[in-house]
Amino acid sequence: MAVRFSPLDQSDPAEIAGYQLRARLGSGGMGNVYLSFTRGGRPVALKVVRKEFADDPEFRRRFRMEVAAAQRVQGIYTAPVVDADPDAPVPWLATAYIAGPSLSHAVVEHGPLPEPSVYRLLAGVAEGLGAVHAAGLVHRDLKPANVLLAADGPRVIDFGIARAADATSLTGTGAVLGTPAFMTPEQVAGRPVSPATDVFALAHLVVYAATGHAVFGDGHYATLVYRIAQEEPDLSGCPDGLREFAGRCLAKDPAQRPDLGEIVLFAKDGLTGQADDAAGQRVLAAGPGGRHPRGLRHPSGATARTPIAPGHRGGRIERRHRARHGRGRRPANRRAAGCPARAAAPPGTAAAQGHRAGRPCRAPGGGRRRRLPWLQRQGRRQLAAAAGRGRH
Ligand SMILES: Nc1ncnc2c1ncn2[C@@H]1O[C@H](COP(=O)(O)OP(=O)(O)O)[C@@H](O)[C@H]1O
Ligand SMILES: [Mg+2]
Repeated sequence: MAVRFSPLDQSDPAEIAGYQLRARLGSGGMGNVYLSFTRGGRPVALKVVRKEFADDPEFRRRFRMEVAAAQRVQGIYTAPVVDADPDAPVPWLATAYIAGPSLSHAVVEHGPLPEPSVYRLLAGVAEGLGAVHAAGLVHRDLKPANVLLAADGPRVIDFGIARAADATSLTGTGAVLGTPAFMTPEQVAGRPVSPATDVFALAHLVVYAATGHAVFGDGHYATLVYRIAQEEPDLSGCPDGLREFAGRCLAKDPAQRPDLGEIVLFAKDGLTGQADDAAGQRVLAAGPGGRHPRGLRHPSGATARTPIAPGHRGGRIERRHRARHGRGRRPANRRAAGCPARAAAPPGTAAAQGHRAGRPCRAPGGGRRRRLPWLQRQGRRQLAAAAGRGRH
């Protein structure tokens, strides 16, 4: 994986609408995303639309509408749109910079996420999508590259804007916006999208996070389109507790899929149910922003210190638990959930002992699962270096 901040080159503008560009964060079908800073020094991600799109009047019309809708999205798990100019010679959009790797980066580099992190991801992204839908938008392009893993939970990025690109002849084949691996049956068939479209993509996303593979595999455009439309998803390797529910969300018929409310309840159950059913109910009763019962955090991650990360060692609850009961035991829900490597390790072996002693998990392939804070420290250092190069 390339470094997350790439230096600017000759082809990059130095400045957009007064924002000095400091580094390139990513390049996609629609354009480039740059790191910049507000006047007050807050980092932002500035998406600059490609010239081909900028020249297309229909794209501009849609982009203007979608940006206005995106600015209405108010959510804890969405990256807020802080500034935009759809009418500029080169249209652009700025979102608050989120420090953390994308889900695709985390999985490619460090393997599948442990099961509790998968449920936390599911709850957080479901809430994020709820905010997107409440603003009258459908994300339409939810995929691992469009979910960033911040220390306090996931953030959905890039919502709604894909629709503007869909409106142009440039994306008629889907080639410009990249692989269709995470598209839905209705999208590949050219049928209308709805919030249920995002439900399908969300289930795909969490199965990917849990297993490390896309449910319709890799391959050429036509092969993937056929599989998405006709074949059953490959849920091998999916944790038992998730498989059946994910299968329902991946129904070909959008009307058969659960809604986001049901998904959030399912994710909360997945986190709390194994440990303490009654306490789980109290969490649900507390609702978002409510007081959480002693010993439990809001499972969607809003207040969680435990990062969503492969191989994390746990947060405040687990540290308190270890202080009381020693390092050899972990809270029941964590022990029950476990990571694939721990589950596979025969009892009494070094691998199983290693997990109980709280050492970092090993990915199924044997690789060491790095903790998210390591990635985040690296990100913070790069950010500080970029900021040091000057602000506008
Ligand atoms: N708000 C943000 N904070 C941090 N990084 C971001 C942000 N928005 C985008 N990025 C980075 O830029 C990449 C591409 O951004 P995205 O908005 O998904 O554009 P596109 O998919 O059109 O290329 C992301 O994968 C991420 O690495
Ligand atoms: Mg994207």
